Amino acid sequence: MAIQRSPARSGRGGGFLTSALRFAGYDFDCRSTTPTSQANSTKPGAGGVSAGGRYMHTLPPDVESARSLLEEYSGIPPEHVDTHVYQMRDRLWDVYPFACVGRFRFLSFEFTADAYYQVALFRLLQAQTEPEPAEHETRLLDVGCCVGQVLRKLAFDGVDSSRLYGTDVEPRFLDIGYELFRDRNTFQADFVIGDLVKQGEGDERLDVLDGKMTFIHATSFFHLFTWDDQVRAAIRMVRFLQPGRRDAMIFGRQVGTVLPRDNGKAGSDKVYLHNAHSWQRLWDEVGERTGTKWKTTMEPTETIETGAGGVESSLRKMTFSVVRG
Ligand SMILES: C[S@@+](CC[C@H](N)C(=O)[O-])C[C@H]1O[C@@H](n2cnc3c(N)ncnc32)[C@H](O)[C@@H]1O
Repeated sequence: MAIQRSPARSGRGGGFLTSALRFAGYDFDCRSTTPTSQANSTKPGAGGVSAGGRYMHTLPPDVESARSLLEEYSGIPPEHVDTHVYQMRDRLWDVYPFACVGRFRFLSFEFTADAYYQVALFRLLQAQTEPEPAEHETRLLDVGCCVGQVLRKLAFDGVDSSRLYGTDVEPRFLDIGYELFRDRNTFQADFVIGDLVKQGEGDERLDVLDGKMTFIHATSFFHLFTWDDQVRAAIRMVRFLQPGRRDAMIFGRQVGTVLPRDNGKAGSDKVYLHNAHSWQRLWDEVGERTGTKWKTTMEPTETIETGAGGVESSLRKMTFSVVRG
């Protein structure tokens, strides 16, 4: 069965980011233009990786913190964790051969080190200790959530899962998420399927989330899109936020660059990568178009090494935040 492709998804094949990240062996890029059948033919084989570096044959070391969640939260016996993870990864890969799937990034809990994540976790936990009016209940939405590992980690860390929401354009990722974490009957988070960059009036399936969220987590999401689609997604996210809460925050990680380029004009298939300056400019535009004001941060955490120099060496892993100005 072919993946459901929104017009935006099918148009996001910017060669710049793809080639840069492939060189880097880096996997924030969850896009691929490879049809599933071709990708599968490159799946098995000897050695550490295949499918152009996007499919790893052995678990990387940084999935170790996910192991305790799979044992304690999901109840998977330690001796079965590896087999379960390999099986689930291959199911995801069969849906769509994303690098972040092939390279097990959905089991990296690196994000827990980010200050913005820690603020959101702290505030979600704190909110559970004091009464809140229903319209101001502290909640978090993960956009482009894939299997929903961030939501499971928050729940594992004590957040009541009824405060958690996820959205993605691909329903099969959400479904496999329940199987990966074995919590279909216990996890109370709401998942909503929808396209965040749908043009015109937007995707009305997402309207149920409007005005409800305190925090929005968006990792490896904005960098998939052109400038115009990022503006569209950001405007949609502004609608998700509780209008009365000054402490609302959008945060996450994405690929950025020290040399942002204006290559994301309407009609272009190029993705737009940011530095701190262009990120603020994007949110200034969102502010103008929504009658709101936003203050942003964007900080590099790591250089993405390519060894090749030139344009790829300007790439950085970035963490970001967006708060009301
Ligand atoms: C690069 S993956 C990142 C997944 C997850 N946030 C993570 O960090 O592991 C991007 C995710 O965004 C979803 N996505 C792509 N285009 C979308 C759209 N237009 N609307 C909603 N979700 C989208 C994909 O299905 C995928 O799950």
